[in-house]
Amino acid sequence: MPLRELRDDDYEALAGVFNTCTTHWPTTAGALCAEYREIAGFDPFIRVSEDAGGRAVGLGHLISPSELGDPRKMNLRVLVHADHRRQGRGGELAAALMAEADRRGWIELNTHYMDEGDVGGSRRLLERWGFREDLRGDMFALELANFDEAEAERALAETPVAGLRVVVLAEETAPDRVERWHDLFTAAYADVPEMADLEPPDLDRFRWRFLGLPGMREDSVWLAEADGRYVGFTQFRYPPGGGDPFIALTVVRREYRRRGLARLLKLQAQAAAKRRGDRRIITGSAMGNEGMQRLNRALGFEPFAAYVFCRRTREAAP
Ligand SMILES: CC(C)(COP(=O)(O)OP(=O)(O)OC[C@H]1O[C@@H](n2cnc3c(N)ncnc32)[C@H](O)[C@@H]1OP(=O)(O)O)[C@@H](O)C(=O)NCCC(=O)NCCS
Repeated sequence: MPLRELRDDDYEALAGVFNTCTTHWPTTAGALCAEYREIAGFDPFIRVSEDAGGRAVGLGHLISPSELGDPRKMNLRVLVHADHRRQGRGGELAAALMAEADRRGWIELNTHYMDEGDVGGSRRLLERWGFREDLRGDMFALELANFDEAEAERALAETPVAGLRVVVLAEETAPDRVERWHDLFTAAYADVPEMADLEPPDLDRFRWRFLGLPGMREDSVWLAEADGRYVGFTQFRYPPGGGDPFIALTVVRREYRRRGLARLLKLQAQAAAKRRGDRRIITGSAMGNEGMQRLNRALGFEPFAAYVFCRRTREAAP
């Protein structure tokens, strides 16, 4: 089964591949095309595994995202359609990526997978290539049917922060609103376990990650403002293929923590989602992130799967 390069007419089939690999994130050909166009800036190495008719049934990519801060630190991903597993495709794609990573002189390789359903293959493949589990988080879902929207208003009245305002980014008119949001992100993102090792994105990169990616919308960013600054935010991302919104991130400035702001922001977002007709909200938080784990459970989120970040460093190589 020789591998080949990615073609523009592969995205339809590849959306099908992605959609057999996770249940909560339906994607589309258009969204994948937009994402792969963007990673063109990260020196990508991409290979496709095809079936007898030439249709893409597997995909592997290796990229050096600027956030990792060193071109020898790379992300890789291997995905095989559920109907085409156990045929050696994942191993073949991984071997091609690893050969390319060797050629590029890698010092760190990162990947992740969703721990739901049949993941024995992913696990074995990653172990074979020397990856170790680096971080594990719960995926949570909240059913909105029983959520009382009045709770969001009560929380706003009760949160002990002087001059507090909760605003939606789309309704902010100040020309520097994204700069101010970026300032908040820069101050607090390093405390997010999944982001702790990343370089802070500059304004352009931030704009792309938090407003440019498919499913990121200005009407789905809730910001808490106090003392003339944004002090916390929560943000939804909507799956390109339709479905439940996913809480992309919730962050509060250190000096404003433990005053109920994250709870308030999430409640405001939940109320807006319910008004929009969303039935469920999905989120994730790292096992060691005690604050967000407790808050999610207190808000009624229930775990349904896990995500696993894996890493291989040069020292760990055989
Ligand atoms: C997680 C985070 C957003 C919480 O923000 P916050 O405004 O301090 O949270 P709240 O004050 O609304 O907390 C509500 C409840 O959550 C729980 N909680 C929040 N932070 C906690 C912590 N550090 N330890 C234990 N429980 C915590 C508590 O039950 C708390 O209620 P209590 O203060 O009455 O005990 C904040 O710590 C943060 O920005 N961390 C870094 C970013 C991050 O990890 N985001 C989550 C990514 S999934």
